[in-house]
Amino acid sequence: MKSLRLAWHWLLAGGAVFGVPLFGGCNAPLPEPESPGAKVYASRCNTCHRLYAPRALTYEMWKMKVALMQGEMVRRGLPPLTRDERELLLEYLQRHSQDAVQSLREVNG
Ligand code: HEC
Repeated sequence: MKSLRLAWHWLLAGGAVFGVPLFGGCNAPLPEPESPGAKVYASRCNTCHRLYAPRALTYEMWKMKVALMQGEMVRRGLPPLTRDERELLLEYLQRHSQDAVQSLREVNG
């Protein structure tokens, strides 16, 4: 059972990377790597899988995923994000989400 779930997980992760080749997936450096939000993201979100590029998802999707991941953390006996961590993380993801990046592009041409 466990390995099945793991295989599914890698399938999903692979799909996310190969499905959006434009966005570079796994090895793309994080934007603003020194910001507090990026540090929360890099330290708390890479325990179970590689980091997804912030611009791979819209902010609405990030909010859902982060809520979902809190559940994953608890389920695996990891401490969930604190309120501060969650706020920093969501604020960071919002700034670099797909919708934010796209609207910037529209403004700049
Ligand atoms: C305790 C392990 C664990 C941690 C820690 C974790 N994740 Fe996940 N994550 C998973 C699992 C398992 C999946 C795949 C299953 C799923 O989508 O429900 C996943 C999938 C994802 C996906 C892809 C979902 C999709 O639909 O393709 C995103 C995005 C994601 N995680 C973001 C995060 C973020 C952001 C954090 C930090 C707040 C985080 N993860 C921390 C276990 C974890």
